[in-house]
Amino acid sequence: MGLGFGTDMSATGMWVEKYRPKKVSEIVGQTEIIGSLSALIKDPTDMPHLMFSGSAGVGKTTTALCITRQILGDNIEGNLLELNASDERGIGMVREKVKKFSGFAGLSDVPFKIIILDEADEMTSDAQTALRRIIEDTAKICRFILIANNVSKIIDPIQSRCATFKFTTVSEDDIIGRLEVIAKKEKIKVNKKGLKSIFDYSQGDLRHAINLMQATASLGEISEETVASSAGLTKTTDVDEVLKIALSGKIVEAREKMIELIKVYGMSVSDFLKYFNSAVFKSQHKKLSEILEIIAKYDYRILVGANSEIQLSAMLAEIAKVEE
Ligand SMILES: Nc1ncnc2c1ncn2[C@@H]1O[C@H](COP(=O)(O)OP(=O)(O)OP(=O)(O)O)[C@@H](O)[C@H]1O
Ligand SMILES: [Mg+2]
Repeated sequence: MGLGFGTDMSATGMWVEKYRPKKVSEIVGQTEIIGSLSALIKDPTDMPHLMFSGSAGVGKTTTALCITRQILGDNIEGNLLELNASDERGIGMVREKVKKFSGFAGLSDVPFKIIILDEADEMTSDAQTALRRIIEDTAKICRFILIANNVSKIIDPIQSRCATFKFTTVSEDDIIGRLEVIAKKEKIKVNKKGLKSIFDYSQGDLRHAINLMQATASLGEISEETVASSAGLTKTTDVDEVLKIALSGKIVEAREKMIELIKVYGMSVSDFLKYFNSAVFKSQHKKLSEILEIIAKYDYRILVGANSEIQLSAMLAEIAKVEE
């Protein structure tokens, strides 16, 4: 996702990274997908381009990296290109990088080079049309693994060139099982009800579940009570932080933190606004009513169906202009 994580959890200390599977056999759930992909890994010669779709935190990027690692083995360096399609530099950057990558050195010891293109559904349809050409032009040398949350936003000519795999949310048993494995390795105490309530908060998003368990572990044993308080705690303090950053005029930083909360930690837009609203009250800002009216305006726009990411960004920008 390309966003920095909060100041209290550096990327290396994060359990989601520490326990990211290295081989497809370690991935939990997604049984059918893993079955088909394991066959591909054994004999990758005819591997088609792949498309992974599905909701957040269920193993799409991880699976792409696992099969790449298993197919390319020791030759991964120079034969894997990872790109993020929503990068602001757009399709021109993708074309340049792919051209350089596919043109550089021949294929020795690997069946093909692999390009992982994350967030492909964030590309405009013009950019996707350009991407389709790029895929065709490099087909002899490269296989693409496209990743998209929403496959319906991918143009048909690309869809029809890929074998599509739809990832599902992770089941209760699989999430709890994975949390137990991690808890054992981290030597933390857990009880069943605590794990069950982590699952309830996660709604099948394993990344969210692991992050919540890590945040909770700093409070003590994983129980229903500690999970509830850390779920509430992390949320509200992080939202307070977004408000503080916005009021200090740092729009970009405030927006990144807001997007991180919603996309990485799975906070819903309406929860974000609710916490944001109470953060404003707590702040006792001199222009309280002005800020509350701004929030109400964007709340309404989102309610009637405007794009929430765009609206929330505009809201932060407007709040950043409020003078003390
Ligand atoms: N199926 C899974 N098996 C094991 N670990 C998983 C699985 N899904 C997610 N995780 C854990 O969550 C982290 C994030 O997973 P991943 O990056 O693969 O999610 P994603 O589906 O690509 O999400 P997004 O759509 O937000 O990019 C991993 O590092 C891993 O720790
Ligand atoms: Mg991903």
